[in-house]
Amino acid sequence: MKYSITDGNLNDLRTPCLVVSLKTAKRVARALGSTAIFSRASEDFKDSVEQSLCVNLGGNIARLLVIGGADETLDADKFRKLVNAAAVSLLKLPVKNAIVALDSVKVTGERTPWKAATLMHAISYNAYRYGKHKSKPASPPTLTTVRVHVSDKKGTTSSARLGNALDAGLAFSRDLGNEPPNVCDPNYLLKEARKLAKHPEVSVSNLDEKKMAALNMGAFLSVSKGSDKPGQMIVIRYNGGRKADAPIALVGKGITFDTGGISLKPGAAMDEMKFDMCGAASVLGTTKAVIQAGLKINLITIVAAAENMPSGGATRPGDIVTSSSGKTIEILNTDAEGRLVLCDALTHAQTFKPKTIIDVATLTGAVIVALGSKASAVYANDDKLANDLLAAGQTSGDKAWQMPLWDEYQSSLNSNFADMANIGGREAGSVTAACFLSRFVEGVSWAHMDVAGSAFMGGAAKGATGRPVPLLFNYLCQQANG
Ligand code: BES
Ligand code: MN
Ligand code: ZN
Repeated sequence: MKYSITDGNLNDLRTPCLVVSLKTAKRVARALGSTAIFSRASEDFKDSVEQSLCVNLGGNIARLLVIGGADETLDADKFRKLVNAAAVSLLKLPVKNAIVALDSVKVTGERTPWKAATLMHAISYNAYRYGKHKSKPASPPTLTTVRVHVSDKKGTTSSARLGNALDAGLAFSRDLGNEPPNVCDPNYLLKEARKLAKHPEVSVSNLDEKKMAALNMGAFLSVSKGSDKPGQMIVIRYNGGRKADAPIALVGKGITFDTGGISLKPGAAMDEMKFDMCGAASVLGTTKAVIQAGLKINLITIVAAAENMPSGGATRPGDIVTSSSGKTIEILNTDAEGRLVLCDALTHAQTFKPKTIIDVATLTGAVIVALGSKASAVYANDDKLANDLLAAGQTSGDKAWQMPLWDEYQSSLNSNFADMANIGGREAGSVTAACFLSRFVEGVSWAHMDVAGSAFMGGAAKGATGRPVPLLFNYLCQQANG
């Protein structure tokens, strides 16, 4: 989708479709001399959120798409519902272009740029299709460009640029997540990451297994050694900020398929473990958005890409490995592999002297039990960082919730034979996974996001959601602004 921002008198516009509230629709219809047609067509219309009505007028404004509830004062969540319904209705129409004029909706505590961003996000989310592997893909929405009408352009100079950037980053992330695991393997992620290096401020490099061995990344390599596909540690550098600015580091779990390894998973829904690289997909999607938006920050993106397979060469429960930090790990369950690739990635991230590290991972089934699919879990060793991420989640509607990272949980990782075990007990599985990661971060502000519940959906709506790209992009926009 391509977005632009427009203002001016609605009656003077030319468009195949104008999206408005009921009051505004009446006013426009009157101005165009179409009051009779409009009154008849809208007679039975229920003016409440999630209702909509399309009235064909012909003429300069060929259609009016009336959005229910848009003349009330709404809270942020209700407005999100409203624009989501508007996006769904709009995307069903056979129009290539549209003007959406919902800036008149009053939203408690929010202003024009937020409303524009929320609208664009909703359209982007609903316009996404993944039909690559169907011999007859369902026809995509005809809509390709949207003009977002605002009453006052002030404060919206970057709105279209940011909306377009998020659109691209979100779609990139979802495409990577949805790609089947026989296509999307560690080398595929590297190839996709390299495409980002077309931009002059971006460089992409990788640590193959040989280089990782030289850096003593025994934890990472214990995961990839069961697979015929070699693992890759991918590093993307984006220099949009000043030379002296310390970078922000994003680290993503990129398990392109998680069978569990020798601690094999049960068969039901195992196909969904192709989504175990959605953390990686989200940091790659965010990076794409940051590059396209030209944010004035320095960013390091690290993807820990590997496949977790059982084989004669695979890691056994009971094996002890040494991570690149020097800490030893007793692997009690080979299905707790995400933390093993991430601990070496976190160690590597610290060599870039970042001011902040954020890792994103579909790390535990336990977080789904705790929070379901609505909120991503945030853990942090720095409350300011946690609060900034939670705020970015609220603003973008890509919500997150903070979980405890208390010392009391650490002892569950005790091992009789190594510095630590790779699993805690049955309780608080997402917390103990975060505790494990915390042991590999020292002297730097760090947050971990467990997105096993939010990054993809199962069942009939199976597919990648692109979360938490909107949250991360919003956070980085805030950082760029000061
Ligand atoms: N990739 C899984 C976590 C997961 C589960 C993601 C369901 C998405 C949906 C992770 O590698 C895993 O297997 N975790 C184990 C940890 C356990 C062995 C301590 C889990 O959650 O069962
Ligand atoms: Mn696993
Ligand atoms: Zn996993």
